[in-house]
Amino acid sequence: MKGLHLLLPLASTALSWSSTGRDGAHSYPKITWTLPCANGLDVECGFLSVPIDHDHPHQGSFNLAVFRLKTNRTDSAGSLFYNTGGPGGSASAWFRAMKNGGQLWSENLLANYDIIGVDPRGMGYSNPVVCDPELFNTKPQLLDAGDGGGFAQALAFNKAFGKSCLDRTGALVEFMDSVSTIKDFELVRQALGSNKFHYYGMSYGTVLGQTYAETYPDKVGRMILDGAVDRRSVGIDTVMTEAVTYQASMQNFFDWCETDPSCSLHAQGVRSIFSNLTAKGSVLPASCPTAAPCRPQVTGEDIILTFQQALVTRDPLPALGLPGWVLLSEVLAQAALGNATFLSTPLARANRSADTARYSYYAVACQDYGTTLKTAADVRRVLNVGASLTPWNKGLCEFLDIAITCIGWPTKLTNPPRALNPVRMAKVPPMLIVNAFFDPETSAMWASGLREQIPNAVNLWRNGTGHTSYFLHGDTSKAIEDFLIDGTMPADNTVLQS
Ligand SMILES: *[C@@H]1O[C@H](CO)[C@@H](O)[C@H](O)[C@H]1NC(C)=O
Ligand SMILES: *[C@@H]1O[C@H](CO)[C@@H](O)[C@H](O)[C@H]1NC(C)=O
Ligand SMILES: *[C@@H]1O[C@H](CO)[C@@H](O)[C@H](O)[C@H]1NC(C)=O
Ligand SMILES: *[C@@H]1O[C@H](CO)[C@@H](O)[C@H](O)[C@H]1NC(C)=O
Ligand SMILES: *[C@@H]1O[C@H](CO)[C@@H](O)[C@H](O)[C@H]1NC(C)=O
Repeated sequence: MKGLHLLLPLASTALSWSSTGRDGAHSYPKITWTLPCANGLDVECGFLSVPIDHDHPHQGSFNLAVFRLKTNRTDSAGSLFYNTGGPGGSASAWFRAMKNGGQLWSENLLANYDIIGVDPRGMGYSNPVVCDPELFNTKPQLLDAGDGGGFAQALAFNKAFGKSCLDRTGALVEFMDSVSTIKDFELVRQALGSNKFHYYGMSYGTVLGQTYAETYPDKVGRMILDGAVDRRSVGIDTVMTEAVTYQASMQNFFDWCETDPSCSLHAQGVRSIFSNLTAKGSVLPASCPTAAPCRPQVTGEDIILTFQQALVTRDPLPALGLPGWVLLSEVLAQAALGNATFLSTPLARANRSADTARYSYYAVACQDYGTTLKTAADVRRVLNVGASLTPWNKGLCEFLDIAITCIGWPTKLTNPPRALNPVRMAKVPPMLIVNAFFDPETSAMWASGLREQIPNAVNLWRNGTGHTSYFLHGDTSKAIEDFLIDGTMPADNTVLQS
């Protein structure tokens, strides 16, 4: 889910759009391109005016930011759209990470496709969701929401925080669901004059991909869903599927630490140290620099939630701000010595564009998932199940955060989770569903369940840890490219080791 974007630095300067494009208005009547982008990305960028509400297109519109990295080939395979998940991840942040040295797309892929990035509605440069940062920084602890006044506190926070988003952003906050977003993508496809929608979606981007496929099955080109979400899973199923998969990755990390001397806590009882750091009532100090403030007190809950984000790659991926497991073990060792600075939650700040990804996360999730929890007893029930089945994380994971934070959220659940329509999915051409067996965020169970709903899809497994596979540039990445470039489809249930 959000692991791969939350740690990304977003652009801090405003992008100013030029009204004259190099390519002119003939070939792309609705997108005005400008090269290079005013924000210093080495890609073309432009905008498309799209309706806030696709069902009532005349009741207001906003500008959707679109980015294009053109191939130099004249016989290119077409336009490859991508989405990096979150929800909240924006294409502009991804291009920025590339500019900062991230080897994200391979030369081979860049040579074959025009890469099209869209900042989804409410994100990046596309009318970002803005909320009250000071309020956001008072977000209460999830584990407290089951009793002792914690439920009322959570409810009051959710209502006030959600209202601040509505007040500061406007009506777009009511139309942040994934159906609205893929309708925007479809307008971009039409504006580009692309025959087919070729797509690489990672993490929550797999929700957008499957939603697009269900809505426009005859437009689907080559589609990759990497790190899959299965929306048949609802309520506590969703929470516990993620918690169980996260716990499996925690066990992997602990096993690695016990056997590999490069772990800072090697031979020191990493399990017992982690257990102490995350025990009920444990609070450690953090002292972040003024330029990047964080919560000065770090609870066990904070550590568990931050740890999930950091587990997503075993090897460091500096361009995306991901530490890798060795550095993560150093951070835990430092916490065990009483300093939890690197495990603290960053504070949101006024007018800081990076925080808009954190806000849009909830705006989307509360319309795509919402919550089945209504009372403190409901919350307590889920917390008890989590504490029993997944004691290392106590049920804490992104979907528990969503289930609790969406209680009392002011916008409607417009796109509730459900099975994909079997008649429509039968028309979708072969696509690739990729997952690591030990993914800490999107479960192999979801990749398998999604495969069951898409008759022509193929499961490709990476026998390893970490969230999503393409950007690791291993054998799985090669199989993804073979499909995108040559249409070569691996056998269903192929297992690769890297
Ligand atoms: C075309 O792009 C590819 C990939 O970026 C690069 O390796 C190649 O040198 C380029 N060729 C030309 C003729 O610019
Ligand atoms: C964990 O906490 C217990 C109780 O305070 C203590 O006895 C034990 O030594 C701690 N373990 C580690 C590894 O710090
Ligand atoms: C905790 O660690 C941070 C980061 O290394 C450092 O800046 C800070 O001074 C440390 N605080 C204490 C109290 O040691
Ligand atoms: C944030 O932006 C608003 C509107 O542009 C402005 O009024 C406010 O002073 C800014 N706040 C800070 C802390 O810069
Ligand atoms: C996954 O890798 C482990 C060893 O790392 C091996 O024991 C296991 O058989 C592999 N599973 C598959 C399905 O390839």
